[in-house]
Amino acid sequence: MSEAGHANGKITSVLSEQRVFLPPPDFQKKAHVSSLDAYSKLRAHAADSETYWAAEARERLSWFQDFDQVLKWQAPFAQWFVGGKINASYNCLDRHVEAGRGDKTALIWEGEPGETRRYTYSQLLEEVCRCAQAIKQLDITKGDRVTIYMPLIPEMLIAVLACARIGAPHSVVFGGFSAEALASRNNDAQAKLMITADGGYRRGNIVPLKENVDAALPHSPSVKNVLVVKRSGHIDRSTWHQERDHDWHEMLAAQEPFCPAEPLDSEHPLFILYTSGSTGKPKGILHTTAGYLLGATSSFHYIFDHREEDIFWCTADLGWITGHTYVAYGPLANGATVLMYEGAPNAPDPSRFWKIIERHKVSILYTAPTAIRAFIKWGDEHIDGHDLSSLRLLGSVGEPINPEAWTWYHSKIGGGRCPIVDTWWQTETGSIMISPLPGATPTIPGTATRPFFGIDVDVVDKHGVSVPDNTGGFLVIKKPWPSMLRNIYGDPERYEHTYWSHIPGMYFTGDGARRDSHGNFWIMGRIDDVLNVAGHRLSTMEIESALVSHPAVAEAAVVGKPDEIKGESICCFVTLEAKTQPSELLKQELRQHVAEQIGALARPDEVRFSDSLPKTRSGKIMRRLLRDIAAQRSSVGDMTTLEDFGVLERLRAEDEENA
Ligand code: WT7
Repeated sequence: MSEAGHANGKITSVLSEQRVFLPPPDFQKKAHVSSLDAYSKLRAHAADSETYWAAEARERLSWFQDFDQVLKWQAPFAQWFVGGKINASYNCLDRHVEAGRGDKTALIWEGEPGETRRYTYSQLLEEVCRCAQAIKQLDITKGDRVTIYMPLIPEMLIAVLACARIGAPHSVVFGGFSAEALASRNNDAQAKLMITADGGYRRGNIVPLKENVDAALPHSPSVKNVLVVKRSGHIDRSTWHQERDHDWHEMLAAQEPFCPAEPLDSEHPLFILYTSGSTGKPKGILHTTAGYLLGATSSFHYIFDHREEDIFWCTADLGWITGHTYVAYGPLANGATVLMYEGAPNAPDPSRFWKIIERHKVSILYTAPTAIRAFIKWGDEHIDGHDLSSLRLLGSVGEPINPEAWTWYHSKIGGGRCPIVDTWWQTETGSIMISPLPGATPTIPGTATRPFFGIDVDVVDKHGVSVPDNTGGFLVIKKPWPSMLRNIYGDPERYEHTYWSHIPGMYFTGDGARRDSHGNFWIMGRIDDVLNVAGHRLSTMEIESALVSHPAVAEAAVVGKPDEIKGESICCFVTLEAKTQPSELLKQELRQHVAEQIGALARPDEVRFSDSLPKTRSGKIMRRLLRDIAAQRSSVGDMTTLEDFGVLERLRAEDEENA
């Protein structure tokens, strides 16, 4: 364990792991950007960001019609590539087939029970066309919203690209969300169609997706039709609603395998993706076609240093932004071969990932620190004996990676020869904002290093003034970028307030950070009431409202508590209604209640009953105090990121003052 302290907000000591890892010479020689000097030159060149992005847009994307204005910025509302016509599905599929690469493998998929399926680019295009035709037949036209609630099977990717093809914005809801959460997302987006499956596999169990859909739809009447893939086979078709439910396989088989990709305006909405904010209601993050696709395509090319022969595996589910950008759009727009795995990392046992890498010769692995920490806990014996020599590059995303996990990942999984890209970004940023370039950037465990080309990030105080090196402050982005969110669906005021009002003129990320004297950014974590539990973003207020919706609960306050594997765990302080007696049974009931309201991913780790909650004179719950109480009882472990909590608390206090 290293020592840390802070005086006047200044961090006075450093992390234990300060070794600098240079890009391995073999990797560097072949890399797209092969020296720090080359990175710096390109970065300086990209400082004229509009000129830079215009050139990237014309080089990396195929347009039906060129744009005539790069950026129209009516702060805080951006329009990129105005006047252009483009289609994301065309860019991910048709153009590769037209260029004679139709026989290249686009997708290798493994189901949790063990089956494998492969699709070439031509085959994937054909399926996407059939699906697009089918959803048109179900009354979906350009602009209509479609909810996708599926297991991670090829049909999920096909559905996403089919929506993009006809200009129907998709709203993917992760399969771990409950019927309640699904209904509220359907309602917010006013979705007309749902695409789902009967069930998916998770650690040998069946996730009852269709049952959840059936429970959600009476509460979300905008949905008129449901297209159902048969995956688990656990439900009888006689339970289907004959008017409403349609069989994916029958419908797709009956379609022509052609469907032209609709030429869409650059700013046509591509998707909505719900994410938790600091208030109770999830935000529908809206991304549009050209700018988002450019961010995905360009970042994938440079940061994963993509080569024609790579087998790329991003372990995220398509239900999250990481899956949207680095399972679907980024790799496919680059003509990459994508690996997709349906299930859990420990199904049937903790060697599953390493078997997959060995079997399919995965060359790039992109996963989350929480998974890495779980692998460490499960033991090296599950890795030993597997041939991981196909790997050439490793990535990390979702939360700060502690140096212990970084060095283990580097030596045990990467065999000491693979660079690691620790990538910082958010649902809202659409694509990676801060990351090493693997052939160029010296890395130090724990820092996401430097900003990507054309991205203007800074660490500032509450007035928007840059803070000195090695001082904690707010992480902001100072200039619009192509893949930035365009709005919160249906709520422009909340968009302005959440992202552009804290520090006027700058995009507020909600993260605390500091920059070292080499220009490396060290991300410290959220400064708002957002938790990061196993790489999943959860709102404390959302969990609190779930708790108080239970008749026994009078008041609730939810805070994050440091957790060795998950980064943070969910700790709830609850006061009960007058006549209710606290009991172990009630604790279990409340945990289950939250899981039903939001989803199993939000199930509290700990419920503590209390006679009252600590409050300020104005009646605000003192979360800082509760966080301290929660943390003190925890076994702190060796998570170096904990060192930053003191600074985080100070930033949180400043943010509360601003609010
Ligand atoms: C939050 C965004 C798009 C990434 C997946 C999660 C945290 C993300 C890192 C990183 C430190 C990170 C931040 C951010 N985060 N990547 N490399 N180092 N923190 O997307 O659900 O929108 O969450 O995840 O706190 O704000 P998300």
